[in-house]
Amino acid sequence: MNTKVVLITGASSGIGEATALRLAREGHHVVLGARREDRLTKLASVIRDAGGTAEVARLDVTDRTSVAEFVDNAVSAHGRVDVIVNNAGVMPLSRLDSLLADEWDRMIDVNIRGLLHGIAATLPHFERQGGGHFVTIASVGAHQVVPTAAVYCATKYAAWAITEGLRLEADPSIRVTTVSPGVVESELADSITDPGAQAAMRTYRADSIPPDAIAEAISYAISQPAEVDVNEIVIRPARQRA
Ligand SMILES: NC(=O)c1ccc[n+]([C@@H]2O[C@H](COP(=O)([O-])OP(=O)(O)OC[C@H]3O[C@@H](n4cnc5c(N)ncnc54)[C@H](OP(=O)(O)O)[C@@H]3O)[C@@H](O)[C@H]2O)c1
Repeated sequence: MNTKVVLITGASSGIGEATALRLAREGHHVVLGARREDRLTKLASVIRDAGGTAEVARLDVTDRTSVAEFVDNAVSAHGRVDVIVNNAGVMPLSRLDSLLADEWDRMIDVNIRGLLHGIAATLPHFERQGGGHFVTIASVGAHQVVPTAAVYCATKYAAWAITEGLRLEADPSIRVTTVSPGVVESELADSITDPGAQAAMRTYRADSIPPDAIAEAISYAISQPAEVDVNEIVIRPARQRA
């Protein structure tokens, strides 16, 4: 078993939480970051009770210093980091004519700047170590645009593009995977304040798959031999056709 030190941003719920549980069960050491530390502490207890190892850190991905500390502290504690799952994201959907500009800013800050902060904090360590694995959680919204999701999709197209650029530029010892989920059970839609977008989401999200389906894909990507780079995985509920 090749045990890795795996950093997960946005580990306090949904896909990040499921990824932490699965990877810890598989023997990896998980470092859990998010703003809701109480949720992380409970998750770490569940992992430890099941025989795994985990540590928690308060993390705000919009703050470059916070992300740098998250990564540097893990490197100080373990001598290396093997994987960062840049998963933290928000999705307050609305039509553009709702003019909810603060919510557009928040999506840009978390979904794009947060990803860039994760890359900036980790890339020098991967280069020094001679290896590492970036996993970006994008979305089917990185491949198609739907009404109410213009800004969200723009952030996910950006996440896709940044991750592909990283793949092209990075040394082959550094692996890069973009995972694009369809509708997954999580708290993601709770941040929608626009009533029209809320109503549309209730129908759109009726058929969802559990977050462990995404965690399993991440596990697959990081468990491949060093010369195998799984670049892209799209996972939708079988019933999701759009
Ligand atoms: N669920 C879906 O249908 C779906 C589909 C496609 C893509 N995705 C993507 O999957 C990723 C995970 O979302 P999810 O579905 O699991 O939703 P979720 O349950 O709402 O989880 C989002 C996570 O992001 C964290 N987060 C938000 N802002 C943050 C910040 N400033 N700093 C650090 N962490 C922050 C949250 O933690 P705190 O609030 O505690 O900070 C939470 O742990 C997102 O990138 C999302 O866009 C989800």
